[in-house]
Amino acid sequence: MRRLLLLPIILLLIPGLAAAETLICDASAPVHEISPTLYGLFFEDINHAADGGLYAELLQNRSFEYEDLTNPSPYQHLTGWQFNTSAAGEGRAAIRTDAPLNANNPTCVRVQASAAGYAFQNLGYGSAAFRGGIPITAGERYDVSVWLRNGDYEGSVSVALTTKTGDPLSDVLDFAPGEVWEKHAGVLTAHQTAEDACLTFLLNGTGELDVDMASLMPVDRVGADWPGGGLRRDLVEALKELRPRFLRFPGGCVAEGSWTWDNLYRWKDTVGPAESRKENWNTWGYMQSYGIGFYEYFCLCEELGALPLPVVGSGVLCQAREPRESPMNDEELAAWTQDILDLLEFALGDADTVWGGLRCQMGHEAPFDLRFLAIGNENWADVYFTRYEKIRNAVKAAYPDITCIAACGPVADGSLFNASRAKILRSFPEDTADEHYYMESDWFLRSTHRYDHYPRSTKVFLGEYAAHEPASGGRRPNSLYSALCEAAYLTGIERNSDVVTMCCYAPLLARLGMDQWTPDLIWFSGIRVVRTPNYYVQQMFSESLGDYLLESALLDENGAAVKEANEKLYHVVSQTAEGQIIVKLVNVSGKEKTITFQLEGGDFSRRTQGTMTLLTGSKQDANSLTAESVFPARTALSLSDGSVQITLPGYAAAVITVP
Ligand code: AHR
Repeated sequence: MRRLLLLPIILLLIPGLAAAETLICDASAPVHEISPTLYGLFFEDINHAADGGLYAELLQNRSFEYEDLTNPSPYQHLTGWQFNTSAAGEGRAAIRTDAPLNANNPTCVRVQASAAGYAFQNLGYGSAAFRGGIPITAGERYDVSVWLRNGDYEGSVSVALTTKTGDPLSDVLDFAPGEVWEKHAGVLTAHQTAEDACLTFLLNGTGELDVDMASLMPVDRVGADWPGGGLRRDLVEALKELRPRFLRFPGGCVAEGSWTWDNLYRWKDTVGPAESRKENWNTWGYMQSYGIGFYEYFCLCEELGALPLPVVGSGVLCQAREPRESPMNDEELAAWTQDILDLLEFALGDADTVWGGLRCQMGHEAPFDLRFLAIGNENWADVYFTRYEKIRNAVKAAYPDITCIAACGPVADGSLFNASRAKILRSFPEDTADEHYYMESDWFLRSTHRYDHYPRSTKVFLGEYAAHEPASGGRRPNSLYSALCEAAYLTGIERNSDVVTMCCYAPLLARLGMDQWTPDLIWFSGIRVVRTPNYYVQQMFSESLGDYLLESALLDENGAAVKEANEKLYHVVSQTAEGQIIVKLVNVSGKEKTITFQLEGGDFSRRTQGTMTLLTGSKQDANSLTAESVFPARTALSLSDGSVQITLPGYAAAVITVP
């Protein structure tokens, strides 16, 4: 764990001292297995999580395809770019669609320099959409590329990192364009650190020149050899530290199309060479380059040690957004189902299949470890379930081992939810039910027993959840309190992980200044990553995942069971296959608690050492770019005969491990 402090504090057992509460655990009595896939992640391109985020591309609108389907205008194609930026040059630029780089990449820019010295720049993502600023670091190397084609241009094109006024911040590359589209590439080294650099193209000659598909990525990135180009290393590290067992992708609303079929996430648009991917407008209001497409997604799963959990559209547009187009008819659904089967072939097929062959060509000969498929995101009612049935039957016929996941709509309870669950239990009992809910923080405290009485046979995937605090300044905070309410809830999830087999917080990532949704698990700027208290809860719970649930009880001084809701004290105890005991304790009251942890059901005389990882602070504490006040700290514990007394501060989550 990145921020763990190993403090030399030994919390000693004080024999005979009466503690206010005792947590008794019977280590000889495993209750049931804990799902090995319990904690995972959900990655959706919302809040610029992909473009402007995890995707290593530093240029915004690199191929002039920006367009807003709700309000198209030619000027959107120039988003992120600035033309005629040098006093020396003369000329103009216009978008061009009559002679594209390829059919999936229809727009390029024709620049016409009437005097040598004409310059144009890409401004990156900066801190807000359409404003400039590429963060660069002195000594860092950057891969640069651009596709160029001469009209009657004569001369070379210089490319460098510069200030907005053209002052150099790196060395310079010189490209000599030819008569046909050609990719020009090189490496630039930054000489200075700057937060607001630009990638500047300077025309040393005159005439007309076509430009498309420019790119700037740090050489130091994850997956530099993936066709999409790779991922930002610091964000990949932040994901890895969460020890995710699965990764849900690509949405969310993004997966299903918001109100027009033009907006459906079509996996085939996201694979192959980066310049041939068909960009699309994003439900969340910006363009997706698909630089993180389905191939990169599967590779990222491997990088993280997580199982893929793709979500595909169900043939119904996002029902929450009042779709303006009809659900797919039988013919359309048959074609869409084939697309889904092709995706499975892409992941699992041999090299001699069409789509398995493409996977091999893209660089991955072995099949990916695909075991789950979610069909639909937040869908409900007959319009959905009739289509779900057709798709899942086709999937099961071809891939009987795939677990299909059916949606329960966007709410935690009520008639829509109940009808969805009843339908899944009745018609698809061997499939998994996908629940989504965003609720006020205290709902999570009241609901820790939600799954205690669920039938155990049909499994649940908690595909989206987060504790929502009241918004301030238009944003719901990632406070310690919200994180602790989630932690309390997770004790109930772990206790019920024979039925809730997977869960993931949503949304995962948000670029500061470019967000559409709060709260989010990880915030980032162009150069920094902010781990929220909610992040640390996920990390603490995920990195200490037991294999078996153990029987445990919290008792007061009189030996009576303590009601967790009264004391706001929540717990779950588990054991790994190797015998390590893991206690998760969450104190959502503002009061310090003294608790004796007592292991029973074995000889614990040799188990004298343990650790406690503690996350605590003030109720409303949150982390920011400038201050990380909430992070876990680890202390050593000494046990005697399987017993230790601990002091748990108010507003705290603790994970105790006894090897
Ligand atoms: O997580 C953000 C959004 O919330 C998801 O895209 C959608 O499924 C849900 O409504």
